This record gives sequence, C-alpha cells and structure tokens, in this order.
Amino acid sequence: MKVRPIFIACLLIIMLPCYSVPLQHNDQKNIPSEIMLTIGGDPTSDYSVTWRTSGEETEAVAEIIKAVPHPKFGKDATTVKGSTVTEYGQSKDRNTHKVRFSGLQPGTRYSYRVGNGKIWSEWFQFTTAKKEKDPFSFIYMGDVQTDIKSLGSRALREAYTHLGHEASFMLFVGDLVNSSSDNHWSEFFYAGGWMLGSLPSVPVAGNHEYNNTTKGKVFSDHWPHLFGMPQNPPAAEYQDRFYWFDYQGVRFVGLDSPVMNKDNKDIDSIINWLEDALKENPNQWTVVFTHYPIYSCSSGRDNKAYRDLLRPILEKYGVDMVLQGHDHTYCRGFNEANITGDVKNPPLYVVTVAGPKMYDLQSDSWGDVTGEDTQLYQHIKVENDTIFYDSYDVTGRLFDSFRLEKDENGVNRLVE
Ligand SMILES: [Fe+2]
Repeated sequence: MKVRPIFIACLLIIMLPCYSVPLQHNDQKNIPSEIMLTIGGDPTSDYSVTWRTSGEETEAVAEIIKAVPHPKFGKDATTVKGSTVTEYGQSKDRNTHKVRFSGLQPGTRYSYRVGNGKIWSEWFQFTTAKKEKDPFSFIYMGDVQTDIKSLGSRALREAYTHLGHEASFMLFVGDLVNSSSDNHWSEFFYAGGWMLGSLPSVPVAGNHEYNNTTKGKVFSDHWPHLFGMPQNPPAAEYQDRFYWFDYQGVRFVGLDSPVMNKDNKDIDSIINWLEDALKENPNQWTVVFTHYPIYSCSSGRDNKAYRDLLRPILEKYGVDMVLQGHDHTYCRGFNEANITGDVKNPPLYVVTVAGPKMYDLQSDSWGDVTGEDTQLYQHIKVENDTIFYDSYDVTGRLFDSFRLEKDENGVNRLVE
C-alpha cells in the first residue's frame, strides 16, 4: 500500500504533543517568565529574584513595595536594578536576569514585579522573616529530577496546595533536574509555575547539577543564573552552592556535596567554613542539608568517604537534623548503632524523594522508618523547644511523623 505524504504529515501533527515539552517560558520578546524567588542572605531583609526573557532586551529591573490591599500602589514602588546573562545553556535566545533585594523590613509582606521598565510580570507577594525567634515552618523536598512535567509536578503542587499558605520557604536537597539543560529547567518551571516566584526556594546542588563532559564534571550552566543565594560561601567560585542563614531560631547550612571529597583542592577551606558556620551559631537549632546522604538508604550506594568527612563534624557540633536526598527511597533515624564515643546529641538523618525515579531500599536499612516507590514531601515546623516533622505522600496521606524535643540542657528526645 502506498502511504500518502499528507497522511504522514497529519500523523506527525497528532503525535507531536507527546514528544514536545510545553514551556512555562513565554517566547514573546521581553515577557518575563520562569520567575524564581530565593532567600538571598539574611532572610529578615535579603531576597533574590531571577527571571527569563527572549529577545534583544537586556535591561533588568524590579519594583518592590510593602504589600497593601488597594491596587494603586505601583507608582510608589522602589526600583532595583539587576544584572543580565545572555546566551547560556542550549538556547541562543535566552536572557536570565537577577535582582537582589536588600534592606527589607523584617516580618513584612512585600509585593514585587520584574521586567525591563516597560514590560512587566504580574505582582508577586512574599513575607520576610522576623528578627526574633518565632515559630515557623518549611517544606523539604527530595530529588524531583525526572519526568518533572508529568510526575514531579504533583509533588511540588500537592506540597504547595497543602502547605504553601503556612510554610516560609521550600528547601530542595539537590537533583532538582536530571541535567543542566534548557528543557529540564523548563519542565521544572512548568511544574512549579507562579509558586516559584511566591514561596522562596532554598536549594543545594546534587550530582545531576553537574554535567559529564570531555573535561570531566562541569557544574551546571544554569544554576548560578537561576538562584541568588546568601553571599557567604567558602570561596567566590562556590557562590550559590555553599551558604548558611538563620531563620527565627534555626541555622540552616547548605552543602554542595558532590565537590566535598579529598580530590577537591579546596576541601580544607570548605571544611573550615563548615566548622565556622556550626561553631559560631547562636541559634537553638541547627539543620544541615546535603544531597549525598551520610548513611545510604538504597542498595549499593554507600558513600563511606563522604560519611567519614562529615559525620564527626555533624556529631561534634550537635547538628539536630540532616536533610538529604540522592537515594530515591525514604529513611529516617539516628542510626545510633553506628555512633562511637561520647556524642551528646546524635543528628537525626532523613533521606527522601519527591520525583518518580525510584530505587530499591537496602535490605538491612538503618532507618527506623523506611519507604520505597513512594513520592513524598515533608513539612517541618519549628516551635521553640520542639520540631514537628511530618512526611506526606503525594496523595496527601501522612507517611511518617515525629517530634524532636530539646530539653534545658540541649539534649534532644524523639517522640513518635
Ligand atoms: Fe543524586
């Protein structure tokens, strides 16, 4: 039978939606899209926003003002100039802009928009942290990584729908995407949409934020343009990859774990930086977040070198919780059987996964609670002497829950 070209053309048109990735990005010239808000320093006053445009325009400005209920506030907003990077990634028509907001007032709701001074995004709203110790909560997500539009999206959206009204930020422990490519990041922005411009993100990099090239592993082209994190890294090249900040009684320390190994010439200064961040810490609680787990949760993925490097430091400085990803399973526990010597407060370790990529749980897992083949998101609420932790699956069902209580001597007690 002879197949007519017109039939093949029709078939291709019908099939095309199955293979194309619809973009959150707006290809119309200079229309802001893919808007990402991050904590940019002291969360009481410093935030960053990035966004993407197509076209020749490279002007980057944002306007910001305390949020008010009436709609005629725009003329009173403060203008903040930003920077622009062009033509990175695979696209030749890709501008990404970054603005840093500083000097904001604590505990205050702000409205902001981004653009080029003539063409603007809609107004987004967010709230700065309070100066004083005060109850708050955040969302913690494992690897989103693959099939982000199709299946990662339900983790992001369920978490936001369930908890976005209450949480102060969304913490990602790496492998947000499978590789540093325009399409993968476009899927991420498609899944997160306007939520990413409203609820600040707090991400660290995973191994999939590195691309394998003929020159070895190269860090993501996209990352430094998409995120404007606190400016306190161990060295300038690690900006947006290692940082710490204090949020209403908790010190958060983010680590770019794939470069924390003995082959890195900077490893000593990174470790010194980490020790300083943990040593000079006036907060009641400390949370470290890292892509690689200290104790692996999945078969054949033990990383002894990373554990040997980090575990003594986490134990020495009494880190309360270590939030991790990478293993595409779920484990939670102290793994006390592995603690040697006198450790006043063993860190509580969690490994979790948000996206659909799944591995097998290791048969003799260290976790007191474990899971596999389940997409999850976590809500962590800090209220004075207690951390309330809840893990939910993406249908909204409670999967794991406990409290961590700190007594007057600083010793933690787990309550299930
Ligand atoms: Fe990973």
